[in-house]
Amino acid sequence: MPRAHLTLDPHFTVGRINRRIFGSFIEHLGRCVYDGIYEPGHPTADSNGFREDVIELVRELGVSTIRYPGGNFVSGFRWEDSVGPRSERPTRLDLAWHSTETNEVGIDEFALWLEKTGSEMMYAVNLGTRGVLEALDVLEYANIASGTALSDARVQNGHPKPHAISMWCLGNEMDGPWQLGHTSAEDYGKLASQTAKAMRQLDPSVELVVCGSSSAHMPTFGAWEHTVLEHTYEDVDYISCHAYYEEIDGDTASFLASAVDMDHFIESVVATADAVRAQLGQTKKINISFDEWNVWYIRRYHSEDKITEIDSWPTAPRLLEDNYSVLDAVVFGNLMISLLKHAERVTSASLAQLVNVIAPIMTEPGGDVWRQTTFYPFALTSRLAVGDALELKLSSDTYETTTYGEVPIIDAVATHDDETGRTAIFLVNRSQRTASEITIDVSHLGTVSLLETHTLADDDIYATNTLVDQTRVTPSPNESASITDGVLMITLPAVSWTAISLGALPAA
Ligand code: AHR
Repeated sequence: MPRAHLTLDPHFTVGRINRRIFGSFIEHLGRCVYDGIYEPGHPTADSNGFREDVIELVRELGVSTIRYPGGNFVSGFRWEDSVGPRSERPTRLDLAWHSTETNEVGIDEFALWLEKTGSEMMYAVNLGTRGVLEALDVLEYANIASGTALSDARVQNGHPKPHAISMWCLGNEMDGPWQLGHTSAEDYGKLASQTAKAMRQLDPSVELVVCGSSSAHMPTFGAWEHTVLEHTYEDVDYISCHAYYEEIDGDTASFLASAVDMDHFIESVVATADAVRAQLGQTKKINISFDEWNVWYIRRYHSEDKITEIDSWPTAPRLLEDNYSVLDAVVFGNLMISLLKHAERVTSASLAQLVNVIAPIMTEPGGDVWRQTTFYPFALTSRLAVGDALELKLSSDTYETTTYGEVPIIDAVATHDDETGRTAIFLVNRSQRTASEITIDVSHLGTVSLLETHTLADDDIYATNTLVDQTRVTPSPNESASITDGVLMITLPAVSWTAISLGALPAA
C-alpha cells in the first residue's frame, strides 16, 4: 500500500486565505443566466424571476466573489443594452457563443441576485470591441452615488444605492485568437494601462485585474505576462490566470496529476510578476486572480457539431453542460488544494462556471436543481478552509505520468484558524490501483480531536450524478481516521478526495 507522511505546524504559515479564493463565474453563455439562475416561470422564482432553489444551493456552495458577465461574451457586449426598462432593451446576436442575447438580465438584476446569495460582484469591462470611455461609463453607472448622467440613470432605473463594485477585470483573454478584438501584449498593455488610470481617476477604490495569458499553453505565455505588466504594473493589483483540465485519450494517470500543472503555472506567473517588479524598482506585489479554473472537456466541445444552421442563433442553448464524474471531482478538489497552497499570492479565484455551464449546479427548466460531483469538494473546502494556509512537510510515494513525469501519489494542504483553534486538512490519493495510508503528525496543534471527515470515492470512478439519479455520488465519513499520541492515521481509497476537520480540545 502506498504511504505518505505529513507534519503540520500552525506556526509555519504560507499566507492568510482570502475568502475571494472561493469565487465563481457567471457568463451570459448557454443556460448559465437564462434557464439557470433566471427563470421567471419557475415555481420557485422570486418577484425578479430568480430561482430560489438555485440561490439556496449557491449559498450552500459557499461562493464569495462572482465574476460577471463574461468571459468571451464580454468582448462583444454593450453593457447599456441591459439596463433600463426591459421592453426597451435591444436583442443582440452574441458572436462568442453564436446565441441570441435578450438582455433581460443586466448589471442591476445581477446585483439584486447577489444580495440574495450574499456574494460580491467582480465585473469585467469590454476591452475587445470597446475601450476607455465605455469602461468609465459602466463604472460611473455602477459606483457613483448620484448627480451625474449615468449614476442618475441607475437611480431612475430603481437602484438608488450604488453597486459599489471593487473588483474589475480589464477585458477577457485578450491574447486568444478566438476573442473579439484580440490583440498583441504591447497594444493590450497600453490600453489596459490607460483604462486602469482613467478608472482610478473616477473611483480610486477599485481593484483591477489585468489579463494574463488565456492558458499556460499559449505560445506567448510568459512573454505576454511580462510585457503586459511592464505597461500596467503601477496601475493594477492582479494578473489573471485561466486553466481548464480534462482527461485526454484515457490517460487517467496524467489527468489525476493536473494540479502539478496548476502549481507550476501559478509559480511561473508569480516569478514573472516579481521579475517585472525588480526590473521596474517597484515594491508592491502583483497578486493572482485565478479567475477561470475547472475541469472542462473542451476537446469534446470543439469536436461537437454545434451550429447546424448558420442562421440559427438560439437563446440559452445547452452549451458546455459537462456531467462530472468522481474522477473529475477528485482532480477538481486537487485544483482547490493547489490554489490554497499558494494562498499568499492567489488572493482571488473564480470557479468557471456556476450554473449549468461546466458547473457544480445544474437545473432543469420548470424542474429540479441538483448537485454535480464537483459541488462537494468546493462546498466543503469553502466551509472548512479558514484562517491561514500552512506550510506542509509532505513525503509521499510517487508514480509515473506521461505528461508530468514522476509525481507524488498524495497531495495535500492544511489550514489553521487561530480564532477557533480549528485545523482542516485536504488530501487526494491519485493512485488508481490501491488505497494509500497517510500518517499526519498533529502533535504541534496540541490535543486535538476529529470533528468531521468526508471522503469522495467510488468503485466506478466514472460514476456521475444526473437529473434522474441526483445523489448517486456523495461524500461519506471516513471511518478509518483515528488519532493516537499526536498522530492522525487515515486510509484514502484509490482515486479519492478527502477533507478532515480537527478541533482543539480544552486543556484538562
Ligand atoms: O468559461 C468558458 C470560456 O472559457 C470563457 O468564456 C472564456 O473566457 C474561456 O475561454
